[in-house]
Amino acid sequence: MLVLVGLMLCLAPADALTAFPPKFQVGKLNGNVVLKCNTSEQQVTWRQNGDTELMAEFDAQGQTLTISGLDLPATGNYSCWAGTVLLDATYLVVSRPREKRMNVSCQAESYRGSFHCSWTGPHSAVFRARLTRSDGSLGEWVPATGHHGQFNASFVDPSFCPFAEELRPLELHLEGLSDTSYLNFSIHFFIHDIVRPDPPQELTVQRRGEKLYLAWAPPASWPLPKSYFALLYRLQYELPNGTQVDKYMEGAEETQLQERAQRVRISCQDPYINTAWSPWSAWQDVDAAQQHQLRGR
Ligand SMILES: *[C@@H]1O[C@H](CO)[C@@H](O)[C@H](O)[C@H]1NC(C)=O
Ligand SMILES: *[C@@H]1O[C@H](CO)[C@@H](O)[C@H](O)[C@H]1NC(C)=O
Ligand SMILES: *[C@@H]1O[C@H](CO)[C@@H](O)[C@H](O)[C@H]1NC(C)=O
Ligand SMILES: *[C@@H]1O[C@H](CO)[C@@H](O)[C@H](O)[C@H]1NC(C)=O
Ligand SMILES: *[C@@H]1O[C@H](CO)[C@@H](O)[C@H](O)[C@H]1NC(C)=O
Ligand SMILES: *[C@@H]1O[C@H](CO)[C@@H](O)[C@H](O)[C@H]1NC(C)=O
Repeated sequence: MLVLVGLMLCLAPADALTAFPPKFQVGKLNGNVVLKCNTSEQQVTWRQNGDTELMAEFDAQGQTLTISGLDLPATGNYSCWAGTVLLDATYLVVSRPREKRMNVSCQAESYRGSFHCSWTGPHSAVFRARLTRSDGSLGEWVPATGHHGQFNASFVDPSFCPFAEELRPLELHLEGLSDTSYLNFSIHFFIHDIVRPDPPQELTVQRRGEKLYLAWAPPASWPLPKSYFALLYRLQYELPNGTQVDKYMEGAEETQLQERAQRVRISCQDPYINTAWSPWSAWQDVDAAQQHQLRGR
């Protein structure tokens, strides 16, 4: 049985897709499919994946090609020709049985309406996706980039308002084509549920006598005003014996430490939406800061 399936897959010599084809058609396995050549020519010839020898169960009449009992070897790139002139091409695939939810993960760095999604899929697949925006309008198809079964794409909802409450979720519709099959699924989510801020920036450490002075700035991508788009900061510092201590501060952009910290780093979140915590900033070495200061003297 496995050998048979393997043979069937090998029989379809379609070149791997490198981009989403402009025109494709989805047929049911074992069903009938009618392909139409978009032309004013009365009589055309067909090629499947460049091959002029079509299978016996194909019936070409005028501008149409009827395929009875669609199977995997019958999928692929159908082009229609007037002699040596290419007229049109349609990529034919079979619909996949509905599979379990695909694992799509989306992330926004703030409330500006732009976000990034990634997902896994068949190795040979190409994907595109489009957004139904917050005002209900439909966005353009966005081709996904990816290889080795890992795909991603970036989206923008120009109608998104960072100051308004999100009343209904965005809908992202994904379509994939592998060599032989079509898959399609949708996810719904609110931007505020996928926000993960960028790390705070410009963390600096200064030693003044026994005290350490620290300052930082919000992530550049975080919206203003600060009074409205608040941030909770989590400062982490490491003591000489290796113990790590956390200090939480809302809104502040500087602080001082009495303890002998070796190195510090910082992260942030939106405390009102309770978003995910940002990635950590890079560790800042306190000794380096001290030496820097000595050299400065
Ligand atoms: C299908 O075949 C035609 C004719 O060879 C070619 O121009 C076109 O790029 C092919 N499409 C795909 C998606 O491979
Ligand atoms: C058929 O071809 C015409 C001219 O190239 C184009 O405007 C039209 O959108 C095509 N229709 C389909 C269904 O592809
Ligand atoms: C979904 O993907 C994320 C990140 O790629 C991963 O951490 C998580 O375990 C996956 N979940 C499932 C159910 O596969
Ligand atoms: C998106 O996919 C491309 C191609 O696989 C990869 O190089 C890139 O790092 C990915 N980007 C993200 C943010 O995952
Ligand atoms: C994609 O999936 C939706 C349901 O999720 C379905 O209504 C639609 O017909 C599918 N598109 C195609 C081309 O099969
Ligand atoms: C590390 O040092 C701190 C402060 O000096 C102390 O409170 C803590 O108990 C020490 N931890 C360990 C594991 O020795």
